[in-house]
Amino acid sequence: MSRTYYIAGNWKMHKTRAEAAELAKALVSQLKGGKHRYLVAPSFTLIETVAPIVKGSNIRLGAQNMACEEQGAHTGEVSVFQLKDLGVQTVILGHSERRHNYKEDDALINKKLKLALKHGLEVILCIGELLEEREAGKAEQVCETQLVKGLEGVSAAELANIVIAYEPVWAIGTGKTATPEDADAIHAFVRKLIGKLYGADAAEKIIIQYGGSVKPDNAAQLMAKENIDGALVGGAALKPDTFVPIALFG
Ligand code: PGA
Repeated sequence: MSRTYYIAGNWKMHKTRAEAAELAKALVSQLKGGKHRYLVAPSFTLIETVAPIVKGSNIRLGAQNMACEEQGAHTGEVSVFQLKDLGVQTVILGHSERRHNYKEDDALINKKLKLALKHGLEVILCIGELLEEREAGKAEQVCETQLVKGLEGVSAAELANIVIAYEPVWAIGTGKTATPEDADAIHAFVRKLIGKLYGADAAEKIIIQYGGSVKPDNAAQLMAKENIDGALVGGAALKPDTFVPIALFG
């Protein structure tokens, strides 16, 4: 496989500045020489602290969300310029917690995604079905809708700056992981869909991460699957003891 594994830590709403600095320093030293691609995504308030620590290392700096407008009267939002000003290189968009708890829809996510691309940020676009959708046999359909609508208006050239994260919502923070086979089936489906939309070369190149209770003891099995190109890690990303073994697998 020519794709490089990409392992990202989504720190969600955890840590103070001192704790974030400690974690970032530990990761920089322990992932030095690691052969995969890495990213950490701290809360907005922690980015300025983490930025100089990861600068020049093999760990990219990410944000967990971004406003859909460039600037203006948007109380409580953070703009693409503000993120870039801090050195942010990547933004996670469409996380299920944004979709379901904060009611972000596909149109809003698409608007954010296009804005991020316009300003040169890499985007990790999260997609994934709810438990009831999976049980109703609709997992593929839900992922297809989120993918097609999320990527609306995105050119083949721009796709090079997009990573997809498949995160079945029922597996996030629950300790329930999709089996490697079930996850790979959706990844294969997503890759095929990218092929239909953007051609075989784009499908071969796109990185598709799996997310949802990735831990040191299941990461290697998941990433051994043909279509699983990395992981988006939540809970296990909060400690070097659990993130480093995932990041250094293989
Ligand atoms: P989890 O979170 O690893 O804690 O399940 C993953 C995510 O939400 O990205």
